[in-house]
Amino acid sequence: MEQTKSDQAYAPGMLLGTFITFEGCEGAGKTTQATLLRDYLLEKGKEVLLVREPGGTPVGELIRDILLNSEDVDIAPITEALLFAADRAQLVRDIVRPALQKGVTVIGDRYVDSSLAYQGVGRGCGLEPVKNLNDWATGSLEPHLTVFLDMSVKDSLARAKPGGLDRIEKEDLEFHENVRYAYSMLQRIFSYRYVVVDANGSPEAVHARVVSEVEKIIM
Ligand SMILES: Nc1ncnc2c1ncn2[C@@H]1O[C@H](COP(=O)(O)OP(=O)(O)OP(=O)(O)O)[C@@H](O)[C@H]1O
Ligand SMILES: [Mg+2]
Repeated sequence: MEQTKSDQAYAPGMLLGTFITFEGCEGAGKTTQATLLRDYLLEKGKEVLLVREPGGTPVGELIRDILLNSEDVDIAPITEALLFAADRAQLVRDIVRPALQKGVTVIGDRYVDSSLAYQGVGRGCGLEPVKNLNDWATGSLEPHLTVFLDMSVKDSLARAKPGGLDRIEKEDLEFHENVRYAYSMLQRIFSYRYVVVDANGSPEAVHARVVSEVEKIIM
């Protein structure tokens, strides 16, 4: 089937920029570290864009609201997987791919691996269908580097604010242990782009570890 010109998720073109994603369990410090890395690279004079998932586009913010704030609404695992992929399709088409084509360094606060871990394994949709769905949604856009922030589920959940948990964070410990196990599988499957960073210690200490990994690929 022919691809349409407006469907930029598939638009060919050299990707000059570097795409770095942060992954890890709830509260492991992804947002903290993604922000510190953005500031560090900006300081170095790089053009950098930080994108968060779900959200980051007008329709993505609407989808984010459904996904994270739908108390008492039954969302089937397959629906959840499709909503995350729909959000990601828009983000890649409108923001991520155009930035990479211009040579911007794009930092993703979560990306496809989160769906593989949470919907594929945690919710039981299966890795393969969720991978296929996301390949379609993103035109198979893969990060150059994925930083996995590694710490125990107990410690990472303890960092998340009590009383401030969203729908997915409120899942029981077993769900989060399954997600962490899924990430250990993803590290093996995608070993060519994964680095595992110890997420324990101060934000500054973790940031120094992140920078030493990032410098191996873009400095
Ligand atoms: N190294 C650290 N030591 C102590 N607290 C931290 C550290 N990094 C982040 N935090 C704090 O822990 C909480 C969770 O951090 P953050 O929001 O960065 O995690 P996250 O992985 O993005 O979580 P989520 O999966 O919920 O988006 C925040 O209150 C943050 O200020
Ligand atoms: Mg976060």
